[in-house]
Amino acid sequence: MKGYVILISVVAALGGLLFGFDTAVISGTINFIQPYFGLSEMELGWTVSSLLFGCIAGVFIAGKAGDHYGRKKVLMLAALLFFISAIGSASANALIYFLIARILGGLAVGVASILSPMYIAELAPAKYRGSLVSLNQLAIVIGILVAFFSNYLLVDSGINNWRWMLLVMAAPAVLLFFSLFLVPESPRWLVARQRNDEALAVLIKTTGEDSAPSELLQIEETLKIHQESVFTDLLAPKIRPLLFIGIILAVFQQITGINTIMYYAPKIFANVGDSNGTALLQTIAIGCTNVVFTLIAMAMIDRFGRKLMLILGSAGMMFMLLGLSALYFMKQTSGIMVLVFILGYIACFSASLGPAVWVVIAELFPNRLRSKGMSVTIVTLWIACTLVTITFPIMLKKLSGGITFFIFAVICLANLLYVWRYVPETKGKTLEELEHQFTK
Ligand code: BGC
Repeated sequence: MKGYVILISVVAALGGLLFGFDTAVISGTINFIQPYFGLSEMELGWTVSSLLFGCIAGVFIAGKAGDHYGRKKVLMLAALLFFISAIGSASANALIYFLIARILGGLAVGVASILSPMYIAELAPAKYRGSLVSLNQLAIVIGILVAFFSNYLLVDSGINNWRWMLLVMAAPAVLLFFSLFLVPESPRWLVARQRNDEALAVLIKTTGEDSAPSELLQIEETLKIHQESVFTDLLAPKIRPLLFIGIILAVFQQITGINTIMYYAPKIFANVGDSNGTALLQTIAIGCTNVVFTLIAMAMIDRFGRKLMLILGSAGMMFMLLGLSALYFMKQTSGIMVLVFILGYIACFSASLGPAVWVVIAELFPNRLRSKGMSVTIVTLWIACTLVTITFPIMLKKLSGGITFFIFAVICLANLLYVWRYVPETKGKTLEELEHQFTK
């Protein structure tokens, strides 16, 4: 039973791997596509962020299509889009084709960013749900690490090196597509489509013969209102607070600065005077720290709960950022300590906000409204991600590292206080028990 659930989660998490790979791969290609397409700095900025516009559209499409056609079929569509995007961007001879291919990739990232965690949360038994949804985050960070490594290995492969870097993504896309044939549809979606017999069969395989019938009953209960849900249902008095919690957590996950490091690490290291070679090694150290501490989080999340991890993680991130800020103020940025604080910050994020925010977002909403609630929440996450990504280089230049990292430290403190005061603990309960608790 456990093996079967893990297999399902691993397959769905391949969506997360492609999400991580596709967002990070671009960093290694920048120096080559800029001269090839003759891009100004501003055009480069737009080219890099083109993916993001696709993401936002993808989240909305996935929310709607996932309810209509099922989580699994839409994930298959995402796999196809990843494949087309890999081939299209790798073979583009004109900027317009490159942009179209990246936007299609963005659509797929958007779809995967909502459907992978949703699908896992809907299939996982309550006891392991935190760890299993975190598997998606593990896949994201492995995807990022693979992109860093493969870019590094391919950089000397000639004038078409950037094409090879982008083409690599086709392989996991094919793997995701075919492995989706091995897994069942979400039982919660099946019940919503009145396919209860199939749902029961899946539940028997995932939660066991004894508990399956009662779980089916609970799911039926929560889906009793048969009319189609609409987005404005999210504003109903009992749902609105959940929506706020989701949105605020998603925004905090981004505005505490993780992607300033993920996307700009080489720039930060170069800024403090490191050579290209060490900058690359340091980037790989970041990728590895990310993976190791995500694994640690997975082992802890169902035992210690999401809330405690979020609180401790925010505190740790704050201290690391204060340290980094102090180094900038004292003009001591040339030593090993910059790396120590950055790795410490990544470790704290990976063991807390990284996985736990995705887990909580997938758990908060009632069955009827899950995809709509997740759509709105995750779209805000992507918007916050873009804003930070666009403003960080300007902040670093205009405000200096000292003030910039101090601001992020203050935001971590705000996150800590918010979680402590407002975020409910969700560990160990079924999605239906949570629904009962939140909407009673
Ligand atoms: C975040 C991404 C981030 C990644 C890095 C994810 O949870 O949503 O924005 O790049 O973690 O570890």
